[in-house]
Amino acid sequence: MLKVLKIILKFIGISFAIFILIMLFIISANDNKNKSNEVILNSKNSESKKAIVIYQPSRTSVVKDLAYQFAKGLNDKGYEVTINYPGDFLDADLSKYSIIVFGTPVYIGTPSKVLIEYINRIKNVSDKKIISFISGGSKESPEIDIIKTAIGNVEQSKFVKYYTSDKNKNLTDAYNLSISIEE
Ligand SMILES: Cc1cc2nc3c(=O)[nH]c(=O)nc-3n(C[C@H](O)[C@H](O)[C@H](O)COP(=O)(O)O)c2cc1C
Repeated sequence: MLKVLKIILKFIGISFAIFILIMLFIISANDNKNKSNEVILNSKNSESKKAIVIYQPSRTSVVKDLAYQFAKGLNDKGYEVTINYPGDFLDADLSKYSIIVFGTPVYIGTPSKVLIEYINRIKNVSDKKIISFISGGSKESPEIDIIKTAIGNVEQSKFVKYYTSDKNKNLTDAYNLSISIEE
């Protein structure tokens, strides 16, 4: 009897350790320092304004898909759009962009550390339109305060959280939001 109990306890212990390791692995996606992956969507208009979409990818394609919806909407609106991951390779001077979009997943109430580190470096954005989107599953959003603090005093700064359960609606909403940004 004692032997069976020991085996059960051992099994529970190992399962718990595996669960914790998997969680740590998932959460680490937000701290991954990705290499530059610049994509530029050119505008048909040679004198077009510029926009940039900077996103930290999550485990699945959910954040990437949202980022590309924003990029597509802005490009359809006539902007030349640069898309990339956050990182040291990105210029901190964003003065040439009229619209800036940041995207991140949230794990345990925390947005991407790499994105926040980048936002802390950016310059010349006080007169820009900034949209920060978050992909998450919880109605509580402490992560918004972390991003807000990093962005600082930008008058035209907007925050949107997309709940993972509404995938298709989110993609439509992201596109519609990007094309509705006032010039
Ligand atoms: C370990 C873990 C922790 C999470 N913590 C939060 C959280 O604190 N707030 C939230 O809104 N969503 C949370 N989520 C949901 C993720 O943010 C959501 O799945 C998001 O879309 C990330 O994309 P992914 O599914 O590709 O990882 C968590 C998910 C996991 C797996």
